[in-house]
Amino acid sequence: MSDTKMMKSVLAVLSGERRDPPPVWLMRQAGRYLDEYRQVRSQAKNFIDFCLSPDLAVEVTLQPIRRFGFDAAILFADILLVPMALGRDVRFVAGEGPQLDPLAPEEIDTMSVGDVEGILGPVGETVSRLTRELPAETTLIGFAGSPWTVATYMIEGGGSKDRMKARALAWSHPERFDALMDRLAEATVRYLVMQAKSGAEVLKLFDSWAEGMSVPLFERAVLRPTKAIVDGLRAEGVTVPVIGFARGCGSMLPRYARETGVTAVALDQGVDPAWADAVLPAGMPVQGQLDPAALLAGGEALDNETRRIISAWQSRPHIFNLGHGITPEVPVAHVERLMAAIRQ
Ligand code: CP3
Repeated sequence: MSDTKMMKSVLAVLSGERRDPPPVWLMRQAGRYLDEYRQVRSQAKNFIDFCLSPDLAVEVTLQPIRRFGFDAAILFADILLVPMALGRDVRFVAGEGPQLDPLAPEEIDTMSVGDVEGILGPVGETVSRLTRELPAETTLIGFAGSPWTVATYMIEGGGSKDRMKARALAWSHPERFDALMDRLAEATVRYLVMQAKSGAEVLKLFDSWAEGMSVPLFERAVLRPTKAIVDGLRAEGVTVPVIGFARGCGSMLPRYARETGVTAVALDQGVDPAWADAVLPAGMPVQGQLDPAALLAGGEALDNETRRIISAWQSRPHIFNLGHGITPEVPVAHVERLMAAIRQ
């Protein structure tokens, strides 16, 4: 028996082996579509406090594993913990999403990376408790937002339709913008080193707003900072696989895959598998790419789309996932149906 036969399925795929059926987990698998999540959520003072309470964070990380037997668990936390650790005020307002005090360009000059490991220490505690509580076959994924996506929330003061202010800042204050990317990359490396040391077996970088960037902006905001993070992790002795998710990056995907050092790429539903297979480095594993709307729709359309994605990725090591996060309206029965279609 080869070494990889003994490996957890997600780690085997990330080391370059195909598995049939593919391992599966879902972005935002811990969340409001689960009654048991909403129940725990209602016990927390606020969302940041929730993320920094290991008892609660461990429990909601485990909930979708118990219910569906996913092959990976993703640490329960949020990408906006990093700006919080950098001293920004981050608030989650029910029904409105995150709100931050918008970052003014001159504030970047005095921004320094403080005690990230101390402030986010409870997340390390959550990771290490999960390593003891997860089933032996389940892979534990740690994560952070990528500098660009995190910066869009900091500059815009929350979510935004087109990230216009953030992109304008990158053009109007290039030195300050690049310094902001550097600070965020440094903080992110320290946060992810802590997660890896606590037992995270895979790290994922979420660049959820990588769409609509011109080539020079993509180079400065996505390629360079992502490479800085991967290089920084490797320099600190972190050897675990890194999954990069540059959602909506379109034709920049081959450069993202080749130039950043990521082990694997997560793909959104808009990427044509035939094209991606032709342009990605030989053997690079992929993750994705079911349309979250197909999961919401359910029924035979879900079965058919699931089968189409699995057969489209026969050519590469593939981890089944959504193209973006599960939405709160998805019935649990649809997730059960998806799992049956994958594992039949
Ligand atoms: O199962 C998991 O994936 C759990 C961990 C997780 C959360 N957020 C918990 C969360 C992860 C990996 C994230 C990542 C995240 N957070 C991203 C990147 C992934 C993506 O979906 O694009 C982004 C952009 C954020 C920022 C964020 N956090 C937003 C925009 C919101 C509000 C919108 C929403 O979905 O409500 C959050 C809050 C948040 N983070 C919730 C959860 C479960 C819902 C809040 C609640 O329970 O009140």
